[in-house]
Amino acid sequence: QALDGKRVFDLSVAPGAHEFRAGVETRTIGINAPFLGPILAARAGETLRMDVANGLAEPMTLHWHGLHLPAAADGGPHQSIAPGAVWQPEFNLAQKAGTFWFHGHQHERTGAHVWAGMAGVIRVADDEEDALPLPRSHGEDDFTLILQDRRFDADGQMPYELNMHDRMAGMQGDVMLVNGQVGPVLELDAPLIRLRILNGANGSFYGLSFSDELTFHQIASDGGLLAAPVAMRGAILSPGERGEYLVDLSDGAAVMLRAETFGAEVTMMGITGTHDVLEIRPRRARAAPPLPDRLAELPAPPKATGAARDFELAMTGMGMMGDFTINGRRYDHGRIDFSVPLGATETWTWTNRTPMLHPIHIHDVQFRILSRNGQPPAAHEAGLKDTVLIRPEETVALGMSFQDYADPELPYMYHCHILEHEDAGMMGQFTVV
Ligand code: C2O
Ligand code: CU
Ligand code: CU
Repeated sequence: QALDGKRVFDLSVAPGAHEFRAGVETRTIGINAPFLGPILAARAGETLRMDVANGLAEPMTLHWHGLHLPAAADGGPHQSIAPGAVWQPEFNLAQKAGTFWFHGHQHERTGAHVWAGMAGVIRVADDEEDALPLPRSHGEDDFTLILQDRRFDADGQMPYELNMHDRMAGMQGDVMLVNGQVGPVLELDAPLIRLRILNGANGSFYGLSFSDELTFHQIASDGGLLAAPVAMRGAILSPGERGEYLVDLSDGAAVMLRAETFGAEVTMMGITGTHDVLEIRPRRARAAPPLPDRLAELPAPPKATGAARDFELAMTGMGMMGDFTINGRRYDHGRIDFSVPLGATETWTWTNRTPMLHPIHIHDVQFRILSRNGQPPAAHEAGLKDTVLIRPEETVALGMSFQDYADPELPYMYHCHILEHEDAGMMGQFTVV
């Protein structure tokens, strides 16, 4: 819907019932649908207005993960929407072409809301990406996949009841969902396809691969195109991360997308499940166009002009709420941890002093990984990112600039994207002033 040169998206969040298995109705939360939300399509440079209606009996928010926008429009814990109310943030879409998402972010309810289905995707296009010979026909050769795992009880419900292990490692399930479907089959007629994959899990990491050790190419990370396609046989996506991948189907053979799931405590427990996620069946063999050699001009990571900040992830005690801290502190809704001067380019260095994996996410910015344990990032991590995996005892330095939007009061968040860690307090907030 276009209005005065604005694009208006109506997003209505409400309780729903969804049949994950035929004949079994599972209680859910959805956005314009019984489970999950729409895949929105927009162009860089557009002004968006989101009309978010809260049809739940409790407060909620909707956060635009990965988007650069004013803190008042961010949809974090400070933009809570009361039951029955409508929130109408408006912002300019100042992004590179890429795959972004949105999800609930209510204080201490993020895990529950996302688990029930409060998430969707925003695909952003721009001129730079349009000029490349890449698959971009939505539903024909370009597919958006929200991967999640869920566990169901004997009645086919997905109660959000955390046991001790879920509190420690994050909520995980044994059933893989692709856009809310179990075991879908994708029939198509294209020799080269693009999969935009979101790890929309609460606490699971996904090791993705295809049958027959098929080689595929990553072309984009969280915030946009990589410099060049990166060949791989396996990809890891942490909760919150996105990757775009090209898959060659020119021989006409069916392939299976597979996922190994693992939790935050991978060093102790290892793989928690191996799943056939999505069967892809091309209708026939036909020649695929060659991949472009170059995708995007990635400027050198920004040189710091402002502060260097250190963040230490820690864990104290065993298995109780509140064990996860950043610089020794749990999230406090009323405390701003620090302020960044508008226009500054900063280096944020994260060290993980826990025995667990943590995917760290920063609002407002797309950052660049400057180094991982002193080494430059691998090619698939060298582009724009908003969420980064930090393994036990790793130190990862991130470079980012804070542009355009200042607000002395309303903060942005930085946090672990294992939603149970976030809700337990592994989160902080900063203002840009
Ligand atoms: Cu995807 Cu602060 O969240
Ligand atoms: Cu975010
Ligand atoms: Cu964590």
